[in-house]
Amino acid sequence: MDTKLVSVRGAERTQEDAGCIGVQAETEAALQEAARILRSGGLVAFPTETVYGLGANGLEEAAAKKIYAAKGRPSDNPLIVHISAMEELEPLVTEIPDAGRRLAELFWPGPLTLVFPKSSQVPYGTTGGLETVAVRMPAEDLARRLIALAKVPVAAPSANRSGRPSPTTAWHVWQDMNGRIDMILDGGPVGIGVESTIVDVSGKIPVLLRPGAITLEMLEQAVGHVELDPAIFQAPGENVRPKAPGMKYRHYAPRAEMTLVEGELEKVTQAINQLAEKYTAEGRRVGIICTEETQHFYTKGIVRCMGSRSREETIAHNLFAVLREFDDLEVDCIYSESLPCEQLGYAIMNRLQKAAGYRKISVE
Ligand code: TXA
Ligand code: MG
Repeated sequence: MDTKLVSVRGAERTQEDAGCIGVQAETEAALQEAARILRSGGLVAFPTETVYGLGANGLEEAAAKKIYAAKGRPSDNPLIVHISAMEELEPLVTEIPDAGRRLAELFWPGPLTLVFPKSSQVPYGTTGGLETVAVRMPAEDLARRLIALAKVPVAAPSANRSGRPSPTTAWHVWQDMNGRIDMILDGGPVGIGVESTIVDVSGKIPVLLRPGAITLEMLEQAVGHVELDPAIFQAPGENVRPKAPGMKYRHYAPRAEMTLVEGELEKVTQAINQLAEKYTAEGRRVGIICTEETQHFYTKGIVRCMGSRSREETIAHNLFAVLREFDDLEVDCIYSESLPCEQLGYAIMNRLQKAAGYRKISVE
């Protein structure tokens, strides 16, 4: 299959080109073509504010099957259904509980996915056999325009091959999906860089299934107590069965063995330096994931900075690109610093721990 790569530009960005109607017309034509592909059962990758999504018609079982094949994804791992306006929610669900309505009103469009009891319209092929459906209204203007033009809810997981870090640029999507899907809409690098917060609002008390840019603090301020799915920070096993099936797979995995180093920051940098020195001397290629504040401490290994500790959104933005870069550099092992598990740091640490397969060293 030939994958078509087309550049598109959002409304804000086209304002700079006032008078340059050609750009807007090209974007409009590309979105129209993408919408046609979605309606006829094909696959289109598109930018959202979190990560790039791989879209298909969410109401068509056969289209959902194509997503699983393109990603190499286990078919029990359900897809998020994306909508462009509030009135598109009702047909997908049997009930909108109060907490769900409140969170949707406050945070949609935005990086929040809500899990509702599904209606009969949504095929089991989309929900991985579950009686619930995950729904999100993305903030990215291009994504909402695409969904509105397609006139169907768009099922879209992250547009990476299963097990690879989520794509934050169209180039990442191309690396993973070229030849496997019909079209990639290139809207430039995404804004946030980690996937949406997922909250299950189908029960009595809302449950956080995956942390993201809408933080636990923001959720609790809106709806009171929110429970945490134990799978967020524990390796899946006998006693931990995640409610978001996708959380049980080794996600976001770089090819090299990765280890998180945690403890007091100065000791962490010393420990990573010692490990880098030892393994470099043995002829191994060592990758180090650090922050702006600590970058200058490292003397050995291949050092990549995620962003600034005082602006964690810069870290979220670069995280997956750094993991992918280490794949390209073919390092043998990776050591990463840790962050405090608060606010956005909670989402970042969740992704880092998964990338590390929960491998960690604590230094005191
Ligand atoms: O930011 C995002 O959420 C991106 C963009 C494209 O919107 N999408 C994304 O999709 O991250 P994906 O498929 O990579 O992750 C979806 C997660 C999986 O862990 C899946 O198990 C969970 O959502 N999920 C989907 N439907 C669910 C349901 N009905 N109940 C519980 N978890 C669900
Ligand atoms: Mg994913």
